[in-house]
Amino acid sequence: MTEDATKYAPLKNDLLLRAARGEKVERPPVWIMRQAGRYLPEYHEVKAGRDFFETCRDPEIASEITIQPVDHYDGLIDAAIIFSDILVIPQAMGMAVEIREKTGPFFPDPMREPSDIDRLLSSDVDVTKELAWAFEAISTTRRKLNGRVPLLGFCGGPFTLLVYMTEGGSTKLYRYIRTWIYKHPEAAKQVLQRITDVAVEFLAQQVKAGAQMLQVFESWAGELGPAEFAEFSLPYLRQIAERLPRRLHELGLVSDPERNHEVPVTIFAKGAWYALDDLANTGYNAISLDWLYDPALAVKTVAGRATLQGNLDPGVIYGSKETITRKVEEMIAGFGGGKQNYIINLGHGTQPFFDPEMVGFFLEECHRVGSL
Ligand code: CP3
Repeated sequence: MTEDATKYAPLKNDLLLRAARGEKVERPPVWIMRQAGRYLPEYHEVKAGRDFFETCRDPEIASEITIQPVDHYDGLIDAAIIFSDILVIPQAMGMAVEIREKTGPFFPDPMREPSDIDRLLSSDVDVTKELAWAFEAISTTRRKLNGRVPLLGFCGGPFTLLVYMTEGGSTKLYRYIRTWIYKHPEAAKQVLQRITDVAVEFLAQQVKAGAQMLQVFESWAGELGPAEFAEFSLPYLRQIAERLPRRLHELGLVSDPERNHEVPVTIFAKGAWYALDDLANTGYNAISLDWLYDPALAVKTVAGRATLQGNLDPGVIYGSKETITRKVEEMIAGFGGGKQNYIINLGHGTQPFFDPEMVGFFLEECHRVGSL
């Protein structure tokens, strides 16, 4: 009941959904974080110098870019992830955000003082109105995919979004977010709560639009120590996992309001190795791991409470074919052979310098080794 079966073509490859639900599979599914983007020449052709958010807001272009890796690696990728960005939530909350060519995200007017939150919290966010373009892009992509692979929706984790909203862009020092959590913790929490509310609605509406699985990117979790993670990230991630199935049920999109089994959700809390046990108790179906985890140790810690996703160092793509083969073999073996509770991915996103041919070799090896 997760979708209007008459509206979209039936799914021909549901490996990812089955693996996320913890079912036994014939081989582990594989997809790659940031699989659409700058390492693919066809991305540059279609983007053609356009502004990043302009491409996201055009459903034809966004859907084309989303499907590019699925076409390029025909039959080798088991999911599509909608081409968008985590920073659309701050935009929906009224903040201006640009993506600049060389330097990445840029907020002209970041939050620096507690008084800055007044305007942010003064009015409710109408997600269906502010992010209407995102839902249109999802519906268009789902239709164009024609059931080839499931379509993933996503959002940023509340803490990660607060990092960008306070820093105003990428950072090495994380000076402003640290000032907020150590000097104005209660004000920070008010904003984290609002981001969480918007995130739950945004994820639910993505499912309504056609997303078949979801991922929450808490990319800068590892900037927090265990105590701060427990205070400024985990409670909000837990809320998302708990409130989402209820909201999906309210919208008539799933039958069970307690468990999000019908539309699986993955949490990627990069760097939060100390929190794996806690994360396994939050209700997410899958936990995405970066490459600092030893797979066997992670399997032991999680003990079947969630499916694990990951976790090859993206840098392995720069290695020789022999090395890629060996690292894929070690990774899949570390995750217990991959026939249950496992989704292959890199430990973080693709990099613009990747050789598309080596990405293809990696995918082929995942299929070969995963099928053994
Ligand atoms: O294929 C996909 O995975 C879908 C698209 C996607 C993008 N961003 C496209 C993008 C996804 C899932 C994201 C998530 C995202 N955005 C994250 C979480 C994942 C992670 O890497 O930890 C984060 C932290 C961001 C914030 C962000 N957006 C940064 C830091 C940058 C620029 C830096 C960089 O990667 O070069 C962006 C811009 C952005 N988002 C690009 C793409 C393809 C580059 C834009 C361009 O074409 O110039």
